[in-house]
Amino acid sequence: MKMLVLNGPNLNMLGTREPEMYGTQTLDELMAELIAYGHERDVVIKVLTSNFEGELIEALHQAAGRYDGVVFNPAAYTHYSIALRDAVACCEVPVIEVHLTDITAREEFRATSVIAPVCHAQFSGGGIASYKRGIDALIDS
Ligand code: DQA
Repeated sequence: MKMLVLNGPNLNMLGTREPEMYGTQTLDELMAELIAYGHERDVVIKVLTSNFEGELIEALHQAAGRYDGVVFNPAAYTHYSIALRDAVACCEVPVIEVHLTDITAREEFRATSVIAPVCHAQFSGGGIASYKRGIDALIDS
């Protein structure tokens, strides 16, 4: 299988970004761990990280035919981007929403995901394990 792991805004800053919240591992380190996890399961993982909503939308538009599914951390866009929700809704391959932190246990505005209702599943609060659960869910889908 081939999967796209899509990371939204500010996730490129992991390592130095609010380490008490997100830990000290960089995104590259986390993605290397995920790629190895995929490799053990015969899953080829391509990672795309962007701070730009339009770039994330275009990646979702282009996912069908290239990937068997998408593991998506929309980051702050989770809570308000109807454009990304619409892009997930018209994506012809399954999309799993993931978060490093538990979005239900933080500020009230983070508890709502406008994207989750059009995703196949949501995994939140497990750190990189949330992404791994996303990979497993796509394998089983
Ligand atoms: C996040 C949670 C979001 O609320 C936040 O804006 C992020 C990261 C997470 O992975 O925990 O940037 O998506």
